[in-house]
This record gives sequence, structure tokens and C-alpha cells, in this order.
Amino acid sequence: MTGAEGVRYTDRYGNPILVRRAKKSDLPRITEIEELAFPKSPYPTYVFLWNLSCNPEGFLVAERCGEVAGYIIFETRPLSGEGHIVSIAVHPDHRRVGVGTVLMAEAERRIAEAGYDVVRLEVRESNFGARRFYERLGYRPERRVPRYYDDGETAIVMVKELRRDEEASPSRRVDR
Ligand SMILES: CC(C)(COP(=O)(O)OP(=O)(O)OC[C@H]1O[C@@H](n2cnc3c(N)ncnc32)[C@H](O)[C@@H]1OP(=O)(O)O)[C@@H](O)C(=O)NCCC(=O)NCCS
Repeated sequence: MTGAEGVRYTDRYGNPILVRRAKKSDLPRITEIEELAFPKSPYPTYVFLWNLSCNPEGFLVAERCGEVAGYIIFETRPLSGEGHIVSIAVHPDHRRVGVGTVLMAEAERRIAEAGYDVVRLEVRESNFGARRFYERLGYRPERRVPRYYDDGETAIVMVKELRRDEEASPSRRVDR
């Protein structure tokens, strides 16, 4: 497993992106990103604290232009034999340059490295931007789950089969 120093990618303009494990000092920035990304239903800080202590391998941030630009939380689920994307968000100032793609690529790479070849996630039915984002990364809608969210909204479960021989990212990985 890759260490805390992180993995280097580039955005679509060739600027460096460092993907590394989240740490406690990132939490104010992660909370800021969360509130901008999910203004109606941000995760409370304890969710991030819990993941920092109980799921540190599955909590990554992307640094771009000297600041944390986004985060991703993922898990591996031995009982169902699959990886799961819990949450991903990119700061509005850093969107549409490949940060989300890089975070997903690195999560998928680590899930595959842990021996899992399927990834699932849930997305709000109304979140067309995220659905397009996931579709572009190779996820396909599998089923609808009515009233999945606290406010009653339907979730779309999306799934992707990982190919272990595939280069994980469309963005060149520079080193480890
Ligand atoms: C979804 C999200 C993580 C994407 O992050 P990002 O860094 O902007 O994504 P990328 O730059 O890697 O996008 C890659 C491609 O995905 C698609 N895409 C990304 N955001 C999109 C949007 N809002 N609308 C339509 N397509 C989108 C596009 O095809 C894009 O390529 P393009 O810019 O050349 O058209 C980001 O918009 C975000 O944080 N949204 C709010 C939180 C959220 O909805 N999270 C998912 C919850 S399930």
C-alpha cells in the first residue's frame, strides 16, 4: 500500500496534483469543501474524524496549486467482496480540471490492489453532474433505491468492474 507521502498525478493542464492520505490538520478545509459541495446535507465533522481514525487508508485528499482541492472516502467490504465509494467532493475553484477523476482513479487503484474487482456507489437521482462524471469513468447505473437519503430522495446505485491490468488513470502517474 502506498505510504502517507502520496502519489503524483497531473491535471488536464499539466499542473501537479498530489493524492495523499488525509490528516487531522486537513479537516477545516475538508469541512469547507463539504459544505460547498453538499450545502443541504454536509457530513458532520465527526464522520471525517471517524474515518481518520478507523478508515485512514480509505480517506484521501488531492492537493493542487498549494491547497487541498478535494477529498474522497472509500471502503473495502470483505463480506460483499467489493469496494465502495462513500463520498467525493472537489472545491468549486478546482472543478473540471481532472481532480475528481484523479481521486477516483487512486481510490480504484487501491481497491484493486487490495484484491477487489468491483466498485459500487450511490448517487442522488437529481445529481446529474455527478452521474455524468461517474458514467464517464465507466460506472453504469444498476438499480434505483427509493427513499435512500434522509430527505426521501432516490439513490441510483452505480457499479464498475475494475480491470486489474488496466492503467488506473487517464492522467499520467508520475511516481509513488
Ligand atoms: C462530481 C465532482 C466530484 C466532479 O469533480 P471534478 O474534479 O470537477 O471532475 P473532473 O474534472 O475529473 O470531471 C471529469 C469529467 O466528468 C464529467 N463531469 C464532471 N462534473 C460534471 C458536471 N457538473 N456536469 C456534467 N459532467 C460533469 C465531465 O465529462 C468531465 O469532463 P469535462 O470537464 O472534460 O467535460 C464535483 O463536481 C463535485 O464535487 N460535486 C459536488 C459533490 C458531489 O456531487 N459529489 C458526488 C456525490 S455522489
